[in-house]
Amino acid sequence: MKKVFVKSYGCQMNVYDAERMADVLATEGYSETAAMEDADLVILNTCHIREKAAEKVYSELGRVRELKQERAHQGQDTKVIVAGCVAQAEGREILHRASVVDVVVGPQSYHHLPELLRKAQTERVVDTEFPIEDKFDHLPQPSRQKTLSRGVSAFLTIQEGCDKFCTFCVVPYTRGAEVSRPVAKILDEAMRLADAGVRELTLIGQNVNAYHGEGPDGLVWSLGRLLRRLAEVPGIVRLRYTTSHPRDMDEELIAAHGDLPALMPYLHLPVQSGSDRILDAMNRRHTGDEYRRLIERIRAVRPNLALSSDFIVGFPGETEADFEDTMRLVADVGFTSSFSFKYSPRPGTPAADIAEQVPEAVKAERLARLQNLLETQRQAFNHGTVGQTLDVLLEKPGRHPGQMAGKSPYLQPVHFESDAHRIGEVVTVRIVRAGSNSLFGEWVKAGDRVAA
Ligand code: 5AD
Ligand code: SF4
Repeated sequence: MKKVFVKSYGCQMNVYDAERMADVLATEGYSETAAMEDADLVILNTCHIREKAAEKVYSELGRVRELKQERAHQGQDTKVIVAGCVAQAEGREILHRASVVDVVVGPQSYHHLPELLRKAQTERVVDTEFPIEDKFDHLPQPSRQKTLSRGVSAFLTIQEGCDKFCTFCVVPYTRGAEVSRPVAKILDEAMRLADAGVRELTLIGQNVNAYHGEGPDGLVWSLGRLLRRLAEVPGIVRLRYTTSHPRDMDEELIAAHGDLPALMPYLHLPVQSGSDRILDAMNRRHTGDEYRRLIERIRAVRPNLALSSDFIVGFPGETEADFEDTMRLVADVGFTSSFSFKYSPRPGTPAADIAEQVPEAVKAERLARLQNLLETQRQAFNHGTVGQTLDVLLEKPGRHPGQMAGKSPYLQPVHFESDAHRIGEVVTVRIVRAGSNSLFGEWVKAGDRVAA
């Protein structure tokens, strides 16, 4: 059997796409391998969001070239594919920069992989079209067993692309305009996943709360409405969605946070900056106070809501005072975990052309201060759970015999002693200790349960 190795960079959408590529290739006789040196086919599923992410591809391709040569000495052929957002953004340029690459395929075309591989027997090929047909209609379903092997928590793409055009971001160019999948297709996929044993769905998209898919009633459904329907799917006990824009948190979605116990009280809602001036220059179209008020409204219906965010420091023109506004917003809102980045100018985006770029050393210093504060908040949140009881979705055996490991509603890894439970169950655990990344607890029998 031929073997394929897929390496994904960047966001959850790439993780999802990588699985779907593996599903397509399974129909062509490929099985997945975790060892690149064993692979007849190597796929790098790339990310273009920041320069560092994009450059990683080329250093990895250097390693792939050596491997390909070694395998060739042993008489084995290796095909190399660059997929994902670098493929979309750079297209044919990749073939010029890296002679090892056989196929370049964009995120909307990977259902064409079998055909592209056939062509690649005789020529180097590029497919970065946004085809009229829906790739999802052409992707095979993985077997029940394959789905099960991927775990009880699954990603489900409901929307792709973005129309927001934040001035720092390449996504509207690489992933294109916002397109929502119809409700019926999402429901089918959710039911198939649930039937195979999946218990938690994370709905993913570049801007998932802009969802506006066609409902079975012919009307346009919002994310709030879709979540309500998905909460009724037998077997699905947890729902999450990521990633979102504050402007798209509508009433229906906020209400869903209050009404749906399956919708986890943990929301990734990137704010990027706390300075109104910088938010304006980023084209985020809201102020710091509007974000604060939005969080208050969601917390009013879901008091135990925890938040995470993305931040960019050193956006062009950012002064010390602007940065302090970001620090103030972080202190005001309180985030339980976040991602923060130095601004990276991306070709073709408006912010890359702004004259007042912030020096690298200033960016580095601000990033360190911000990360320090975010880490303090994360640790405080984790320690605050000690003594509480949390529901834990069991995902796998723990590190030691007799241990189980799962996730809290806030995505914290939780370990506890048990041989009485099975993967996929939700178990009530009293947290007794917080490590730096995980929580440790003990099982609370139904009768012992105390309110969190
Ligand atoms: N520079 C730094 N960070 C960026 N992000 C997006 N574009 C850039 C950029 N040019 C960050 C944003 C976004 C996350 C996915 O990546 O914070 O929310
Ligand atoms: Fe990029 Fe998100 Fe802004 Fe869309 S909303 S342009 S994906 S940062």
